[in-house]
Amino acid sequence: MRWIGGSTMSNTTARPARYFARALAIAALVAATAALSAHARDAGLYRAVPASPDGIGKQYQGREIAQVMGYDGAPWLDRPTRDREERTDWLVDSLPLDPAMTVADIGAGSGYLTRRLAARVPRGRVYAVDVQPEMVALLERLARYPGLSNVTPVLGREDAVPLPAASVDLAILVDVYHELAYPAEMVDSIVAALKPGGRLVLVEYRGEDPAVPIKALHKMTEDQVRRELQGFPLAWEKSDERLPWQHIFILRKAPARAR
Ligand SMILES: C[S@@+](CC[C@H](N)C(=O)[O-])C[C@H]1O[C@@H](n2cnc3c(N)ncnc32)[C@H](O)[C@@H]1O
Repeated sequence: MRWIGGSTMSNTTARPARYFARALAIAALVAATAALSAHARDAGLYRAVPASPDGIGKQYQGREIAQVMGYDGAPWLDRPTRDREERTDWLVDSLPLDPAMTVADIGAGSGYLTRRLAARVPRGRVYAVDVQPEMVALLERLARYPGLSNVTPVLGREDAVPLPAASVDLAILVDVYHELAYPAEMVDSIVAALKPGGRLVLVEYRGEDPAVPIKALHKMTEDQVRRELQGFPLAWEKSDERLPWQHIFILRKAPARAR
């Protein structure tokens, strides 16, 4: 086979170029295969639908995925009435946290929950993950505050959480799951990042309750969440309904087997 330079190049000068071109060809093939399989996976799991005003025109298990809240929504996330409206203190109290745990706040936004979690794991760590670089910039600013040195901001991906395998005790997504563009891939990736016995917590506005003053695509029913999470290696541990507007769902990855 002839690579760059063709037969007029001497054997010694042609060899590096030949290897380089071969490596390029292999890289291109791997990239094409990855793109193809991502596309194939997408085509199988997701369905294109006409986009509604708050949706992305992509359906998963009968639900249209909501648009991501832009970074300009950060002041709303930090609004002074939120503590009272959502009783985040009750949410944090409901979580099975130990002071030395590693927690992943996925879709951390401006860090409203991150700073409350960081106070509960003073000897542990909070990975504050978000896909928007502007949100990560806010998280970086937050992590410089006294008492928040256990916060590590992480720029995430739409389809994966870039955290080490089996490193996290508790992963929490507050008002995030409904806007994941690749929910199946994200749950796979979160499960991989959880330690055996680690927990996944989803907090979602109640889709069953028309009195919750949030747009329909940004709410979820328990039935829908259960449907979407079945088939993953997670056991449903509990549904907690103590909050005024949101469900708290806690799932657990199987503990390590005793030898
Ligand atoms: C409605 S905000 C909630 C923020 C925060 N959890 C809170 O309650 O204040 C949703 C956040 O999820 C982030 N997000 C969406 N998809 C994500 C993904 N695949 N990985 C990480 N973050 C994501 C968005 O950028 C946005 O900041």
